Amino acid sequence: MTVLRIQSSSDMEALGEAVGSHLQAGDVVVLHGPLGAGKTTFTRGVGTALQVEGQIQSPTFVVARDHKRVAEGQPPLIHVDAYRLSHAEELVDLDLDYDHSIVVIEWGRPFVERVVDQWLDVNIHTPSEDSDDTDVPSDSGDRVVTVTAHSRQGVDTRFAPLLEELNDFGH
Ligand SMILES: Nc1ncnc2c1ncn2[C@@H]1O[C@H](COP(=O)(O)OP(=O)(O)OP(=O)(O)O)[C@@H](O)[C@H]1O
Ligand SMILES: [Mg+2]
Repeated sequence: MTVLRIQSSSDMEALGEAVGSHLQAGDVVVLHGPLGAGKTTFTRGVGTALQVEGQIQSPTFVVARDHKRVAEGQPPLIHVDAYRLSHAEELVDLDLDYDHSIVVIEWGRPFVERVVDQWLDVNIHTPSEDSDDTDVPSDSGDRVVTVTAHSRQGVDTRFAPLLEELNDFGH
């Protein structure tokens, strides 16, 4: 687990870029955090690292958007917004090709374990959500990001090098 303080949207994008540069086919990233936390901003950085075609934008009315890579033969980025999904089965029914894609799922935490065995969880916390943090103005841009590797089969090693590298992020 790595905990980072991210104070601007450009830093959030840079964090997405740092994570994105480690991603390969079969990887799944779940983004968790309130409306406007910065999930799509993070994904934009992932898209930059992967050099995808098309703009990364909030896919609220399109559950999943496919982004081809500029480089021939590279796995596509599938950007999912699970906000309007109410059952894991709806994610299962999308029948995404997880093995041959890189999948980023906003609001995916309640559903992800139905579709894959291993994933990276990125939690974006806005300190102003807490009632005892009233000295932090809501528009301060302050975010606390916690990145955790999850595996249903015990110890995960897939994301260890990434988590290690993130310890130096911003330093
Ligand atoms: N530290 C920060 N990290 C990310 N975004 C920030 C930060 N500070 C301010 N912002 C602003 O907050 C907004 C984040 O919007 P974004 O669409 O990325 O959020 P989201 O989590 O995807 O929201 P939604 O739940 O609606 O999909 C942007 O307008 C961005 O400029
Ligand atoms: Mg979003």
